[in-house]
Amino acid sequence: MSERLLYLQNFGCQMNDYDVHRMVEVLRKEGYRLTDAREQADLVVINTCAIRENCENKVLSSAGTLRGLKQGKRDVVIAIGGCVATQRGESLLRAIPHADLIFGPDAIVRLPQLLDAVRTERRRYAAVDFIDVEDYEFLDADPQPGDVKVSALVTIQKGCDNFCAYCVVPRTRGREVSRPLPEVVREVERFVSVGAREVTLIGQNVNVYHGAGGGPEDFPRLLEAVCALPGLARVRFTTSHPKYYTDRTSECFRDLHKLGKWLHLPVQSGSTRTLQRMLREYSREEYLAKLGYLRECCPDISVTTDIIVGFPGETEADFADTLSLLSEAQYDSIYSFKYSPRPGTPAFAKADDVSVEEKSDRLAQVQALQREITARRLARLLGRTETVLCEGESKQGGGQLCGRTSGNHVVNFLLPDGQVAADFVGRELNVRILETRAHTLLGTLAAAD
Ligand code: 5AD
Ligand code: SF4
Repeated sequence: MSERLLYLQNFGCQMNDYDVHRMVEVLRKEGYRLTDAREQADLVVINTCAIRENCENKVLSSAGTLRGLKQGKRDVVIAIGGCVATQRGESLLRAIPHADLIFGPDAIVRLPQLLDAVRTERRRYAAVDFIDVEDYEFLDADPQPGDVKVSALVTIQKGCDNFCAYCVVPRTRGREVSRPLPEVVREVERFVSVGAREVTLIGQNVNVYHGAGGGPEDFPRLLEAVCALPGLARVRFTTSHPKYYTDRTSECFRDLHKLGKWLHLPVQSGSTRTLQRMLREYSREEYLAKLGYLRECCPDISVTTDIIVGFPGETEADFADTLSLLSEAQYDSIYSFKYSPRPGTPAFAKADDVSVEEKSDRLAQVQALQREITARRLARLLGRTETVLCEGESKQGGGQLCGRTSGNHVVNFLLPDGQVAADFVGRELNVRILETRAHTLLGTLAAAD
């Protein structure tokens, strides 16, 4: 088989990270090899995100820059995958006239056939349908020795049945399907066999996982099964939905020592009125009660969240509730966004009535308050010795290594004199925390293992 070159650009969330790995694996079997040189590629894939309008715009402008590739004699195929593909469907072929193929997440498995069809029939294709829930089969990861990192993503679920008023995901990724527990376990084992020490179990709403026979205990059961696997140092999961998040899951943080002490529990707003209008189906009080029990089970846990400001109809009083919730919840960090109307969502029909200036002002207030809280939360770690799973050399350079604490805080620390980085990667190290930065920590190796 002749070698072909693949250039891939990815946007978006962990589901997209996972998907591009599967694309690379599927295409590797067809003789494709990754390249950084876009001009040389035989196939250019952009994997897209539609969560907010600015994500979509970024994708479209990036796709625009591909036009030149088609000029001249080159027989390059341009393919647009991911959530903008399913959100826009066939109309994306008109919006990006130089694209040959538009494909959704469910079409990754068919990429070889679709590319063949594009090449042999010289036709443009849109493959954006979802596979029926009953027929859906997860594409097994095929990790190769050498290209696996210390930390791997394993999907346990796809799609979402929740229809939060602002969210495009149920439309871009289809209905929820849970991956059978034995399949998840086998995939984790495959990653471990080629060097992974940590897995993050991913899905849009992992708390409704029902791949262990069905029922509310399925997700804790999955955590127990994965934490029991030998060779694995740490297990994480994301994302949770507060409505479905159970006390039993909080107890897992107490009972399963391999479970990283970090929970991402997106609240979106601190106002019960806004939460109702967002169709989140929990109140501020219910959310805080779950957080309270979590901290009872695991006092040292790190908690992170997502916040949206300027949802239609959000008043000053609603917004004040979000600020007060941040003070009460004491998150380690947050991701905060200005509301962005997405076509096809329930909120799209509502007037986007919080002005751009007001949204910017609210976002700035949220971020300023959280900066102080994050600094205090990081400061509590000063002087402590944390177990850090070493992931590799730090982006900071200067002979520093980098890893994360159980609470998912990034720590940079110096490689001891005369030692080589490779001897530390993948190991759990005791690191004493010396300094805090805006979002990261600086430490020193206390004693190995
Ligand atoms: N506008 C702004 N933020 C959004 N998010 C999802 N949809 C929108 C939207 N239409 C945010 C939510 C979600 C995170 C992944 O992105 O906070 O948890
Ligand atoms: Fe991920 Fe949602 Fe963006 Fe799709 S739209 S890439 S599921 S964040």
